[in-house]
Order: sequence, then structure tokens, then C-alpha cells
Amino acid sequence: MSNPTPTITVMGATGHTGGKIAARLLAAGANVRALGRNPDKLAALERAGAEVLAGDTCDPAFLARVFRGADAVYTLLATDRRAADYRARQDQEGEAIAEALRASGVRHVVALSSLGADVAEGTGVIAGLHAQEERLKRIAGIHLLLLRPVSFFENVYDALGQIKEAGVMADTVEPDIAVPMIAADDIAQVAAQALLASDWTGVAVRELLGQRDLSHSEVARILGGRIGKPGLAYVQLSEDEMSGAMIEAGLSPSFAALYLEMTRAFNEGRVGPSAGRNAANTTATRFEDFAEEFARVYAAI
Ligand SMILES: NC(=O)c1ccc[n+]([C@@H]2O[C@H](COP(=O)([O-])OP(=O)(O)OC[C@H]3O[C@@H](n4cnc5c(N)ncnc54)[C@H](OP(=O)(O)O)[C@@H]3O)[C@@H](O)[C@H]2O)c1
Repeated sequence: MSNPTPTITVMGATGHTGGKIAARLLAAGANVRALGRNPDKLAALERAGAEVLAGDTCDPAFLARVFRGADAVYTLLATDRRAADYRARQDQEGEAIAEALRASGVRHVVALSSLGADVAEGTGVIAGLHAQEERLKRIAGIHLLLLRPVSFFENVYDALGQIKEAGVMADTVEPDIAVPMIAADDIAQVAAQALLASDWTGVAVRELLGQRDLSHSEVARILGGRIGKPGLAYVQLSEDEMSGAMIEAGLSPSFAALYLEMTRAFNEGRVGPSAGRNAANTTATRFEDFAEEFARVYAAI
């Protein structure tokens, strides 16, 4: 990018990836437009020097306004696990983003997607990201980088209460299947570097597999060891048990069904990288490093 102080719009700036991307861009001296919906949650980014913009990312007029004039944009579909029709929510936000990109004339777009987004159906939540990839690919004149990580380390924060109260971790993924898991900050590092450089043309895909593949049993073992619960076990639930627990926790039946379809795809080996692990798709942060941060959060609750 020729502009030494580029202006970069970051969606989901109070979320896992967007927050870390915004911080990295600010540290690099970029002008950051940080998007969220809650001004209180955006305040720290404002203090750090970002222009913060609260609005609804399903509103194409809001998005076009905050995209216009930016040198590059980071997009994602927010995870609204309470949406009555989760897939319709993904499509609504995806359409709004695409419409706003067309209206704004932004040239470089880094979009968060997922491993498995090459497949159109049978992968639950990820199929909505496939649809978004296809929508973005149809926009004339943009240079699009699709980032395809899979399970974020940060997902284990969802199990904090379960670990504290029941002393187990539970999900429907088979205990010993190893899947690529990644720190959100490793995604942020790749995204921020691409947004700053804006040095690719056309449509590019980057799979991000984290430092190594991990099984849920190994995750429980590492976390248990770090938080003083060495016997912490991972328990595989039936789909009915998992669905019941998710709905009881306030998530929508629609999201629960898509989540279960996704974990079924993991168990059946239908979500994976296009090629083997290599230096380009492997990132640095070990789960053991993340476990230190998790332990601090765990100790504070
Ligand atoms: N978790 C995984 O393992 C994984 C793996 C691959 C891909 N993905 C994909 O990653 C995406 C989520 O990214 P993330 O984890 O970085 O984000 P996140 O932590 O889920 O945060 C979502 C962000 O979007 C904001 N937001 C939500 N609804 C909004 C609305 N209506 N208007 C404006 N802002 C809104 C949230 O603001 P608030 O702070 O106000 O909530 C937050 O900043 C999803 O598309 C998911 O499918 C996730």
C-alpha cells in the first residue's frame, strides 16, 4: 500500500478477531474505523486512537458510510447465537456487507471465513460462510482475501461455567479427533498484515491451521493441568443432550441445529484443509500459551 497512514475499517472490533486486528493496526500507525454496536465496549479502542462507529451491520447504508474512503476493509459475519433463524441472519448481514462494498468502492477486502467454506452444504454454520464467500466473489473490482481458519482457541471460554460448576468440558465432537485450532490473535496477525500491505490482486484464499491439530481430550488435559484440575475430562454428548443444553442456555434452536450439523461434519472428516499442513498455513501460538491467559480468566471468575 503506497499510503503510509492507510484508513482501515474493521468490523466486529469488540469481538475476538476484530479487536486484535484493530489493536495491531493502531500500533502500526493506521487510521482505524472500529465498528461495533455498543459504544461502551468500543470506548477502549477510542482511547487507543480509533474512530469508533456504533451501528447495525445488517444496515447497508451504515456500512457503506463507514466503508467509503477506506483503503481496506475487514469483514465478518457476526455470531448471533440467539437469532431465531441463524442462517437467515447470516444471509441478511452478508447481503448488507456486499451491497455496502459495491456502493462504497473499497478495493481491498479481507473477509473472515472458515475452513470448510469451499463446500456449499452439510456443514451447518460454515455453509453460511460459503454463501458469503460466493457473494463477495461476485463483486466486480474488489481484491478479496478469504481467511479460512477453523476452531478458535477462544471458543473454550464458552465452557468456563461448565468447568467451574460441573468440572468437565462437553461437546458432540469425538474426543480423539484432532482438528486445527488457532488463536484469534494469529488470525489477527495475518489479517492486519494483509490489510496494511494490500498487496494481492483478485481473489486469494488463505487457510490458517494454527500451530497444530488438537483433540478435545488434549484441550481438556492442557487446560485442566493449567487451572489446577488435572483430572478435567472432555465428555462427548449425544446430539440431543447438546441441543438441549444449548437451548437451555438461551441459544436458538436454529443455531443449535446448525452447530450440530457442523460438529457432525468435523466427526465425519468433512471439514479440512485443501492441502497438508505447511509453513504458510501454520501459525505460531501454541494452545499451551493460550492456556496461560485462560487460567487468568478462570481464576478471576
Ligand atoms: N469461533 C470459531 O471457532 C470460528 C471459526 C471460523 C470462523 N468463525 C467465524 O468468525 C465469525 C465471528 O468472528 P469473531 O469471533 O471475531 O467475532 P465475535 O467475537 O463473535 O464478535 C462479533 C462482533 O460483531 C459485533 N456485532 C454483533 N452483532 C452486531 C450487529 N448487529 N451490528 C454491529 N455489530 C455487531 C459484536 O459486537 P458486540 O461486542 O456488541 O457483541 C462483536 O464486535 C463468525 O462468522 C464465525 O462463523 C468462527
